[in-house]
Amino acid sequence: MARDILKTLQAEHDTLRELFAELKATTDRAVKKRGTLLEQIEANLVPHAKWEEQVFYPAFLERADRDGQQTYAEAVAEHHAVENSVIPEVHEAEPDTPEFAGRTKVFGELIDHHATEEEKTMFKMARKMFSAAERAQLDEEYETWKQSADAANLVAGEKAKANIKGAAKSLLQ
Ligand SMILES: [Fe+2]
Ligand SMILES: [Fe+2]
Repeated sequence: MARDILKTLQAEHDTLRELFAELKATTDRAVKKRGTLLEQIEANLVPHAKWEEQVFYPAFLERADRDGQQTYAEAVAEHHAVENSVIPEVHEAEPDTPEFAGRTKVFGELIDHHATEEEKTMFKMARKMFSAAERAQLDEEYETWKQSADAANLVAGEKAKANIKGAAKSLLQ
């Protein structure tokens, strides 16, 4: 089967959905499991989202018509909401609390909504904008980038940001 960036991104959405389902099934006592799952979610989500923002979305926008431009704007706004509001609030909650359960549930619901919009609208448009050869090439570039130091640093950077927030919070308690 020919490689296709849209199939890869969709498969990554499914991985995230599975991880969120596992997280939702945990109890307040499953502190370690919650921590591990949240780390796994972020390790999967951050490279996916950053590559979309830096490569896929701009390539999409270049060829988009009016509807495509709006689809692009919606997707970017959702990324920003998750990065700047939802994820920081998750990190401010202790993993053994109902707050953590509630905030990670919202996190998962937003990701599912966003991923479904991409699959049903943006990727559908992209399938017409990009030839099979272009989609295969994007897929190869994405795989190479994911294995690069840049991608690893990005995940480490997000983790560091979360740790700083956690530390600041414990100072305030
Ligand atoms: Fe996205
Ligand atoms: Fe996506």
